[in-house]
Amino acid sequence: MNSRNWNRREVLAATGAVSLAPITGLADGHEMQTKPIPATGEQLPVIGLGTYSVLDVESTAGNIESRKAIVDLLTAKGGSVIDTSPMYNRSERVIGDVIDAGSDRSSLFLATKVWIDGKDAGVRQMQESARLMSTEVIDLMQVHNLRDTDLHMQTIRDWKEEGRIRYSGLTHYRAGAHDALEAAMHKHKPDFIQINYSLGEREAENRVLPLAEDLGIAVLINRPYQAGALFRAVSGKKMPEWALEFADSWGQFFLKFIVSHPAVTCAIPATSKLHHMEDNLGAGFGPMPDNTTRRRMAEFLDS
Ligand SMILES: NC(=O)c1ccc[n+]([C@@H]2O[C@H](COP(=O)([O-])OP(=O)(O)OC[C@H]3O[C@@H](n4cnc5c(N)ncnc54)[C@H](OP(=O)(O)O)[C@@H]3O)[C@@H](O)[C@H]2O)c1
Repeated sequence: MNSRNWNRREVLAATGAVSLAPITGLADGHEMQTKPIPATGEQLPVIGLGTYSVLDVESTAGNIESRKAIVDLLTAKGGSVIDTSPMYNRSERVIGDVIDAGSDRSSLFLATKVWIDGKDAGVRQMQESARLMSTEVIDLMQVHNLRDTDLHMQTIRDWKEEGRIRYSGLTHYRAGAHDALEAAMHKHKPDFIQINYSLGEREAENRVLPLAEDLGIAVLINRPYQAGALFRAVSGKKMPEWALEFADSWGQFFLKFIVSHPAVTCAIPATSKLHHMEDNLGAGFGPMPDNTTRRRMAEFLDS
């Protein structure tokens, strides 16, 4: 697939059929695109894995084997980010089980959240997250849905100094919370935010994404498929010819719209299926749409 995308790019360059942005972070078109985390310059691959509901399963041998295959495919293709939360019931434990079953922890960027009221309860929850995920150092600790932000950000800053957390973050998933998120970004200057952004939910373009760029904050994107609603919106429809120049599937069409935004660092689609993981990871390779094409994609979906 990668070489096919690369050839397409060459063809496109010759024909000028559709305008495509230069690909940054690509050595030869066969590696997943990466973007820097502004706080450190560390490169992060642009496609990750969300875990809401899809990893909330019993730790049976079969379930761990199928989830391990998804995680191993993620890292084999150059991805690393897995996003979870204590809110997602058994998901953190399943991540730990997958690591204990042999997935390479050092290839993973583990992002979880604190989602509880009170400082002490937050500390206990973060300790439990590390234990469940079989990890000493959590790569990214995010305050889930801005719950008790001031208290938890203090703990996260302390843990960062102690080396138990590498990056801080704030999350939300609704446009109605963007004002509150902006205020918290100014106040706490987190390393990351995580927000909803997709072809069907573009509000973040107005202020949150530009603010993240201004403040030097990395951005994870949740609900990239609006929890699957985007697939239902195009059900039975063919992709337009011009999109075939950069996307092999609707999933890649939706994800490339997201990760080609300059402020976006990584999208975290959730899936329980290996072939969907393969499809999603494909969005990290090959040509990306530029601004003109991105506008065309939005107009197409709106119509
Ligand atoms: N407040 C927060 O911090 C917050 C809120 C919401 C979400 N999140 C994070 O963001 C992640 C993603 O958001 P989400 O889980 O709400 O939804 P999503 O990623 O927008 O959509 C997931 C749905 O899309 C399907 N899917 C995935 N890849 C596909 C493909 N290539 N082709 C067809 N269908 C595909 C999945 O089903 P299959 O299993 O069948 O593939 C699932 O039903 C969450 O898992 C979570 O980690 C965080």
